[in-house]
Amino acid sequence: MSYVTARWNDAKILWHLMVSRIDGETHADRLNSFYEGQAAGYDQFRRRLLHGRRELFDNLDVPADGTWVDLGAGTGENAELWGGRIHQLRKGYLVDLCEPLLDVSRQRIRANGWSNVEAVCADATTYVPSEGEVDLVTFSYSLTMIPDWISAVNQAWKLLRPGGTLGIVDFYVSRKYPGEGLKRHSWFQQNIWPVWFANDNVYLNRDHLPYLLDRFELVHLAENEGSIPYVPFVKVPYYRLIARKPVR
Ligand SMILES: C[S@@+](CC[C@H](N)C(=O)[O-])C[C@H]1O[C@@H](n2cnc3c(N)ncnc32)[C@H](O)[C@@H]1O
Repeated sequence: MSYVTARWNDAKILWHLMVSRIDGETHADRLNSFYEGQAAGYDQFRRRLLHGRRELFDNLDVPADGTWVDLGAGTGENAELWGGRIHQLRKGYLVDLCEPLLDVSRQRIRANGWSNVEAVCADATTYVPSEGEVDLVTFSYSLTMIPDWISAVNQAWKLLRPGGTLGIVDFYVSRKYPGEGLKRHSWFQQNIWPVWFANDNVYLNRDHLPYLLDRFELVHLAENEGSIPYVPFVKVPYYRLIARKPVR
Protein backbone atom coordinates (compact mmCIF):
# COMPACT_ATOMS: atom_id res chain seq x y z
CA MET A 1 0.00 0.00 0.00
CA SER A 2 1.41 3.41 -0.96
CA TYR A 3 2.00 6.14 1.62
CA VAL A 4 -0.86 8.24 0.23
CA THR A 5 -3.33 5.32 0.21
CA ALA A 6 -2.39 4.44 3.79
CA ARG A 7 -2.91 8.02 5.03
CA TRP A 8 -6.22 8.29 3.14
CA ASN A 9 -7.35 5.04 4.77
CA ASP A 10 -6.34 6.41 8.19
CA ALA A 11 -8.29 9.63 7.54
CA LYS A 12 -11.45 7.64 6.70
CA ILE A 13 -11.11 5.46 9.81
CA LEU A 14 -10.47 8.50 12.04
CA TRP A 15 -13.57 10.16 10.63
CA HIS A 16 -15.65 7.11 11.59
CA LEU A 17 -14.04 6.93 15.03
CA MET A 18 -14.33 10.60 15.91
CA VAL A 19 -17.08 12.23 13.87
CA SER A 20 -19.53 9.81 12.29
CA ARG A 21 -22.74 9.10 14.23
CA ILE A 22 -23.59 5.55 15.28
CA ASP A 23 -27.27 4.82 14.54
CA GLY A 24 -29.54 1.83 15.00
CA GLU A 25 -32.32 0.31 17.06
CA THR A 26 -30.50 -2.87 18.03
CA HIS A 27 -26.92 -3.64 19.08
CA ALA A 28 -26.31 -5.40 15.74
CA ASP A 29 -27.66 -2.38 13.81
CA ARG A 30 -25.33 -0.08 15.73
CA LEU A 31 -22.32 -2.34 15.04
CA ASN A 32 -23.19 -2.41 11.33
CA SER A 33 -23.57 1.38 11.29
CA PHE A 34 -20.23 1.88 13.07
CA TYR A 35 -18.19 -0.58 10.99
CA GLU A 36 -19.83 -0.33 7.53
CA GLY A 37 -17.46 2.38 6.30
CA GLN A 38 -14.44 0.96 8.12
CA ALA A 39 -14.43 -2.72 7.21
CA ALA A 40 -12.02 -2.46 4.27
CA GLY A 41 -9.44 -0.44 6.21
CA TYR A 42 -10.08 -2.03 9.61
CA ASP A 43 -7.05 -4.34 9.79
CA GLN A 44 -4.52 -1.76 8.63
CA PHE A 45 -5.55 0.74 11.33
CA ARG A 46 -6.37 -1.66 14.17
CA ARG A 47 -2.93 -3.34 13.92
CA ARG A 48 -1.57 -0.09 15.44
CA LEU A 49 -4.32 0.28 18.03
CA LEU A 50 -5.25 -3.19 19.28
CA HIS A 51 -2.00 -4.20 20.96
CA GLY A 52 -1.05 -7.62 22.26
CA ARG A 53 -3.11 -9.82 19.94
CA ARG A 54 -0.05 -11.48 18.41
CA GLU A 55 1.49 -12.03 21.86
CA LEU A 56 -1.76 -13.62 23.07
CA PHE A 57 -1.86 -16.11 20.20
CA ASP A 58 1.89 -16.79 20.47
CA ASN A 59 1.30 -17.77 24.09
CA LEU A 60 -1.80 -19.90 23.53
CA ASP A 61 -1.47 -23.61 22.83
CA VAL A 62 -3.46 -24.59 19.79
CA PRO A 63 -5.95 -27.27 20.86
CA ALA A 64 -4.78 -30.05 18.54
CA ASP A 65 -7.81 -31.77 16.97
CA GLY A 66 -9.92 -29.50 19.17
CA THR A 67 -12.37 -26.62 18.76
CA TRP A 68 -11.65 -22.90 19.05
CA VAL A 69 -14.31 -20.19 19.27
CA ASP A 70 -13.31 -16.54 18.77
CA LEU A 71 -16.14 -14.40 20.17
CA GLY A 72 -16.40 -10.95 18.54
CA ALA A 73 -13.92 -12.05 15.89
CA GLY A 74 -14.39 -9.04 13.60
CA THR A 75 -12.46 -9.52 10.36
CA GLY A 76 -11.01 -12.83 11.55
CA GLU A 77 -7.44 -11.61 11.66
CA ASN A 78 -6.78 -13.68 14.79
CA ALA A 79 -7.04 -16.82 12.68
CA GLU A 80 -3.93 -15.68 10.81
CA LEU A 81 -2.07 -15.29 14.08
CA TRP A 82 -2.03 -19.09 14.49
CA GLY A 83 0.15 -19.31 11.39
CA GLY A 84 0.52 -22.92 10.23
CA ARG A 85 -0.79 -24.14 13.59
CA ILE A 86 -4.34 -23.41 12.41
CA HIS A 87 -4.35 -26.73 10.53
CA GLN A 88 -4.05 -28.60 13.85
CA LEU A 89 -7.56 -27.44 14.82
CA ARG A 90 -10.49 -29.68 14.07
CA LYS A 91 -12.67 -26.58 13.91
CA GLY A 92 -12.45 -22.82 14.43
CA TYR A 93 -15.50 -20.54 14.66
CA LEU A 94 -15.14 -16.79 14.04
CA VAL A 95 -18.27 -15.40 15.67
CA ASP A 96 -19.49 -11.84 15.21
CA LEU A 97 -22.72 -9.86 14.94
CA CYS A 98 -21.46 -7.34 12.39
CA GLU A 99 -22.05 -8.29 8.75
CA PRO A 100 -19.53 -5.89 7.12
CA LEU A 101 -16.72 -7.35 9.27
CA LEU A 102 -17.97 -10.92 8.76
CA ASP A 103 -17.72 -10.36 5.00
CA VAL A 104 -13.98 -9.61 5.40
CA SER A 105 -13.67 -12.68 7.61
CA ARG A 106 -15.33 -14.89 4.96
CA GLN A 107 -13.03 -13.48 2.25
CA ARG A 108 -10.02 -14.26 4.48
CA ILE A 109 -11.18 -17.86 5.02
CA ARG A 110 -11.62 -18.33 1.27
CA ALA A 111 -8.28 -16.69 0.41
CA ASN A 112 -6.42 -18.93 2.87
CA GLY A 113 -8.34 -22.08 1.93
CA TRP A 114 -9.10 -22.89 5.59
CA SER A 115 -11.64 -25.72 5.33
CA ASN A 116 -11.72 -26.06 9.15
CA VAL A 117 -12.66 -22.43 9.86
CA GLU A 118 -16.15 -20.92 9.66
CA ALA A 119 -17.42 -17.35 10.08
CA VAL A 120 -20.70 -17.26 12.00
CA CYS A 121 -23.15 -14.38 12.48
CA ALA A 122 -24.28 -14.74 16.08
CA ASP A 123 -24.41 -12.99 19.43
CA ALA A 124 -21.49 -13.84 21.71
CA THR A 125 -23.79 -13.86 24.73
CA THR A 126 -25.83 -16.81 23.43
CA TYR A 127 -23.77 -18.57 20.74
CA VAL A 128 -23.38 -22.35 20.98
CA PRO A 129 -21.51 -24.28 18.24
CA SER A 130 -22.73 -27.68 17.07
CA GLU A 131 -19.95 -29.35 19.12
CA GLY A 132 -21.46 -28.02 22.37
CA GLU A 133 -18.30 -28.02 24.49
CA VAL A 134 -15.10 -26.47 23.12
CA ASP A 135 -11.40 -26.40 24.07
CA LEU A 136 -10.54 -22.73 23.64
CA VAL A 137 -12.52 -19.47 23.70
CA THR A 138 -10.90 -16.13 22.88
CA PHE A 139 -12.06 -12.53 23.01
CA SER A 140 -9.77 -9.88 21.49
CA TYR A 141 -10.98 -6.34 22.10
CA SER A 142 -14.56 -7.58 21.95
CA LEU A 143 -15.56 -7.81 25.62
CA THR A 144 -15.39 -3.99 25.84
CA MET A 145 -17.87 -3.78 22.93
CA ILE A 146 -20.40 -6.26 24.28
CA PRO A 147 -22.93 -4.37 26.43
CA ASP A 148 -23.91 -7.47 28.40
CA TRP A 149 -20.31 -8.53 28.97
CA ILE A 150 -21.15 -10.64 32.04
CA SER A 151 -23.40 -12.84 29.87
CA ALA A 152 -20.59 -13.14 27.30
CA VAL A 153 -18.11 -14.30 29.96
CA ASN A 154 -20.71 -16.67 31.42
CA GLN A 155 -21.38 -18.03 27.93
CA ALA A 156 -17.65 -18.65 27.42
CA TRP A 157 -17.67 -20.51 30.74
CA LYS A 158 -20.61 -22.68 29.59
CA LEU A 159 -18.97 -23.43 26.22
CA LEU A 160 -15.60 -24.45 27.65
CA ARG A 161 -15.00 -28.04 28.68
CA PRO A 162 -13.58 -28.41 32.21
CA GLY A 163 -9.89 -27.58 31.88
CA GLY A 164 -10.56 -25.61 28.67
CA THR A 165 -8.70 -22.37 28.03
CA LEU A 166 -9.87 -18.77 27.90
CA GLY A 167 -7.65 -16.18 26.17
CA ILE A 168 -8.45 -12.46 26.33
CA VAL A 169 -6.75 -9.27 25.26
CA ASP A 170 -8.56 -5.97 25.75
CA PHE A 171 -8.48 -2.41 27.04
CA TYR A 172 -9.43 -1.85 30.67
CA VAL A 173 -8.97 0.46 33.62
CA SER A 174 -8.03 -0.51 37.14
CA ARG A 175 -10.20 -0.11 40.19
CA LYS A 176 -9.24 2.79 42.43
CA TYR A 177 -7.98 0.17 44.89
CA PRO A 178 -7.11 -2.85 42.74
CA GLY A 179 -6.66 -6.33 44.19
CA GLU A 180 -3.30 -7.61 45.32
CA GLY A 181 -0.74 -7.88 42.54
CA LEU A 182 -2.81 -5.82 40.06
CA LYS A 183 -1.71 -2.49 38.61
CA ARG A 184 -3.27 0.79 39.71
CA HIS A 185 -3.80 3.29 36.90
CA SER A 186 -3.48 7.05 37.16
CA TRP A 187 -6.51 9.29 37.77
CA PHE A 188 -6.37 10.29 34.08
CA GLN A 189 -6.42 6.69 32.90
CA GLN A 190 -9.17 5.62 35.32
CA ASN A 191 -11.46 8.51 34.43
CA ILE A 192 -10.70 9.86 30.96
CA TRP A 193 -10.25 6.71 28.86
CA PRO A 194 -13.72 5.28 29.69
CA VAL A 195 -15.34 8.55 28.56
CA TRP A 196 -13.15 8.79 25.43
CA PHE A 197 -13.86 5.24 24.26
CA ALA A 198 -17.58 5.30 25.18
CA ASN A 199 -18.03 7.69 22.24
CA ASP A 200 -17.52 4.62 20.00
CA ASN A 201 -19.57 2.29 22.25
CA VAL A 202 -16.37 0.76 23.65
CA TYR A 203 -16.67 0.42 27.43
CA LEU A 204 -13.44 0.22 29.40
CA ASN A 205 -14.47 -1.38 32.63
CA ARG A 206 -12.83 -1.70 36.04
CA ASP A 207 -14.71 -4.94 36.77
CA HIS A 208 -13.77 -7.07 33.73
CA LEU A 209 -10.47 -8.31 35.08
CA PRO A 210 -11.63 -8.90 38.70
CA TYR A 211 -14.66 -10.87 37.42
CA LEU A 212 -12.52 -13.01 35.10
CA LEU A 213 -9.99 -13.69 37.86
CA ASP A 214 -12.83 -14.67 40.16
CA ARG A 215 -14.40 -17.17 37.75
CA PHE A 216 -11.37 -18.75 36.06
CA GLU A 217 -8.01 -20.20 37.20
CA LEU A 218 -5.25 -17.84 36.18
CA VAL A 219 -2.51 -19.18 33.91
CA HIS A 220 -0.93 -15.91 32.77
CA LEU A 221 -1.67 -12.20 33.11
CA ALA A 222 0.20 -9.26 31.56
CA GLU A 223 -0.89 -5.67 32.22
CA ASN A 224 0.52 -3.23 29.65
CA GLU A 225 -0.08 0.15 28.02
CA GLY A 226 -0.22 0.89 24.31
CA SER A 227 -0.14 3.92 22.07
CA ILE A 228 -3.04 5.24 19.98
CA PRO A 229 -2.35 6.27 16.37
CA TYR A 230 -2.19 10.08 16.02
CA VAL A 231 -2.61 10.66 19.79
CA PRO A 232 0.83 11.56 21.18
CA PHE A 233 2.12 11.37 24.77
CA VAL A 234 -0.64 9.20 26.27
CA LYS A 235 -1.08 5.45 26.46
CA VAL A 236 -4.11 3.30 27.05
CA PRO A 237 -4.00 0.27 29.39
CA TYR A 238 -4.68 -3.22 28.08
CA TYR A 239 -4.31 -6.69 29.54
CA ARG A 240 -3.62 -10.17 28.22
CA LEU A 241 -5.13 -13.00 30.17
CA ILE A 242 -4.84 -16.75 29.75
CA ALA A 243 -6.99 -18.70 32.19
CA ARG A 244 -8.58 -22.07 32.62
CA LYS A 245 -12.04 -23.30 33.48
CA PRO A 246 -11.45 -25.33 36.66
CA VAL A 247 -11.85 -29.12 36.55
CA ARG A 248 -14.25 -29.93 39.38
C1 LIG B 1 -12.96 -3.89 18.45
S1 LIG B 1 -13.68 -5.15 17.53
C2 LIG B 1 -12.47 -6.46 17.69
C3 LIG B 1 -12.54 -7.42 16.56
C4 LIG B 1 -11.45 -8.48 16.54
N1 LIG B 1 -11.60 -9.41 17.63
C5 LIG B 1 -10.07 -7.86 16.55
O1 LIG B 1 -9.28 -8.15 17.45
O2 LIG B 1 -9.78 -7.11 15.61
C6 LIG B 1 -15.02 -5.74 18.53
C7 LIG B 1 -15.85 -6.77 17.83
O3 LIG B 1 -16.84 -7.29 18.72
C8 LIG B 1 -18.00 -7.51 17.95
N2 LIG B 1 -19.17 -7.62 18.84
C9 LIG B 1 -19.67 -6.67 19.66
N3 LIG B 1 -20.73 -7.15 20.34
C10 LIG B 1 -20.90 -8.43 19.95
C11 LIG B 1 -21.82 -9.45 20.30
N4 LIG B 1 -22.78 -9.26 21.21
N5 LIG B 1 -21.71 -10.66 19.70
C12 LIG B 1 -20.73 -10.88 18.78
N6 LIG B 1 -19.83 -9.94 18.41
C13 LIG B 1 -19.91 -8.73 18.98
C14 LIG B 1 -18.04 -6.32 17.02
O4 LIG B 1 -18.89 -6.49 15.91
C15 LIG B 1 -16.58 -6.23 16.62
O5 LIG B 1 -16.28 -7.03 15.53
